[in-house]
Amino acid sequence: CLSPALLHLYDVRDCVVVVIDILRATSTISTALYNGAKAIIPVDSVEKCIRLGREMECITAGERDGKVAEGLQYGNSSFEYPREFIEGKTLVLTTTNGTKLLHMALAKGATEIITGSFLNLSAVCDHLLSQNKNVVLACAGWKDKVNLEDTLFAGAVAARVKEQFTVNCDATQVAETLYGVAADDLFGFMKAKDASHYHRLIGFGLERDIRHCLTPDLANVLPYYVNERLVIR
Ligand code: MLT
Repeated sequence: CLSPALLHLYDVRDCVVVVIDILRATSTISTALYNGAKAIIPVDSVEKCIRLGREMECITAGERDGKVAEGLQYGNSSFEYPREFIEGKTLVLTTTNGTKLLHMALAKGATEIITGSFLNLSAVCDHLLSQNKNVVLACAGWKDKVNLEDTLFAGAVAARVKEQFTVNCDATQVAETLYGVAADDLFGFMKAKDASHYHRLIGFGLERDIRHCLTPDLANVLPYYVNERLVIR
């Protein structure tokens, strides 16, 4: 599913839903959990983030349009969550597209949600290969529009796991084909195409974030949604 606007076309109820927001929500989630965060509570509004942060004495984090949202303590960059800061802590996170998509999947009845990023590509693929449910690779895109980086990741997953699945959606073929073209130099590909969120984040001086988010297996854990939070499975 290449954008949230297409999610209604898929029956997510008995599937594993992989929520994908490479730049940067699901990369930040992988990093924070890899670095020892106790849990991440993804929420779909800044107000709820602030309220939960106060009630549960958690860190509040997130962004709107790529910048730290007003009223939150931290933003949506992996580099804000090193082990010496995040270990043992719970983060309440709200982002423009990533956490919103996760809540859309829940509202559609998803019962098994994991999050995927290049940083945990192998953990995601190993999990999908170890179970026998259908899979929806759900790309967050940008405000309902398709983006390159989430499609590339969906393609990377498809390329690795396709032998064990019947691919019944052309969107998967599109993603895998695109990944085949870009795999040797993901950053170079994003730059050459002036991908929309690449362009936005470069404008904020965040090239280091982009390079980090496109690097496979740097934070190779499996974030799994249970009891309203993401924890390592
Ligand atoms: C989102 O959810 O849209 C993002 O993760 C945006 C960002 O922080 O770059």
